[in-house]
Amino acid sequence: MRRERLRVVGVEAVGPYTLLRVGRGGLDPGAPGQFFMLEAPGRLLPRPMSLCLAPPGELGFLVDPIGPGTRALCALGPGEELAVLGPLGNGFRLDVQRPLLVGGGIGVAPFPYLSEVLRRPPALLGFRTPAHAEAAALVANAEVVLEPEYVTQRLEPGRDVLACGPEPMLEAVRALAPAAQLAWEAPMACGYGACYGCAVELGGTWKRLCVEGPVLRAA
Ligand SMILES: Cc1cc2nc3c(=O)[nH]c(=O)nc-3n(C[C@H](O)[C@H](O)[C@H](O)COP(=O)(O)OP(=O)(O)OC[C@H]3O[C@@H](n4cnc5c(N)ncnc54)[C@H](O)[C@@H]3O)c2cc1C
Ligand code: FES
Repeated sequence: MRRERLRVVGVEAVGPYTLLRVGRGGLDPGAPGQFFMLEAPGRLLPRPMSLCLAPPGELGFLVDPIGPGTRALCALGPGEELAVLGPLGNGFRLDVQRPLLVGGGIGVAPFPYLSEVLRRPPALLGFRTPAHAEAAALVANAEVVLEPEYVTQRLEPGRDVLACGPEPMLEAVRALAPAAQLAWEAPMACGYGACYGCAVELGGTWKRLCVEGPVLRAA
């Protein structure tokens, strides 16, 4: 992991989300499911973002503007700089036989990169509205599920599920697929294990989601 100031090379709207592309500098893209801490100029704390795309020389992040930190990232323009720290966290295990990517909303963010690395497995992606579902175009072999239907209604047995999305979706996947790999979220202040802001209690021990996660075995 290292921290660098990187330059924005592209900003694109993807439905209500923003695809922020930055020059990679000397940063390693890491493994799918790992994340970076992105700090927009003038903001006190950086924000965790999954790596979405890793074309040569670039890092791409899909950002949902839900609050001040994410809105500041979405407001950046080409040529502006931001501080980026990473790659962080554990990422998905890639030794899977019959992968199925299962995502909901902005939880699809790590899947474009994951899909390329796993050679384009099928993906089941759930969204609230057709506008949000525009993000599915970033993921190969994606089947879109719109509310009121849920992705868990279409889960096939016998698949190695890799999932990322809102907590109720992850809990529903966990109940159906105990061997699934689930990427969780928690508010994160440091991103590298120092502050314990992201700690969750699991089986009587505390795990820092930024170090032992964000990907955890469902069981
Ligand atoms: C490992 C990891 C990877 C992530 N990847 C992405 C990504 O690729 N794209 C993306 O858009 N977002 C991602 N997020 C979520 C993103 O970091 C938060 O939405 C962001 O930090 C919110 O900051 P803010 O200042 O905009 O909003 P805030 O003002 O901090 O929060 C706005 C609202 O969202 C809630 N909230 C904030 N952070 C979280 C969180 N992590 N989990 C649940 N609720 C939260 C707050 O309680 C508040 O209600 C990721 C989070 C983690 C932990
Ligand atoms: S965010 Fe600081 S320990 Fe995880």
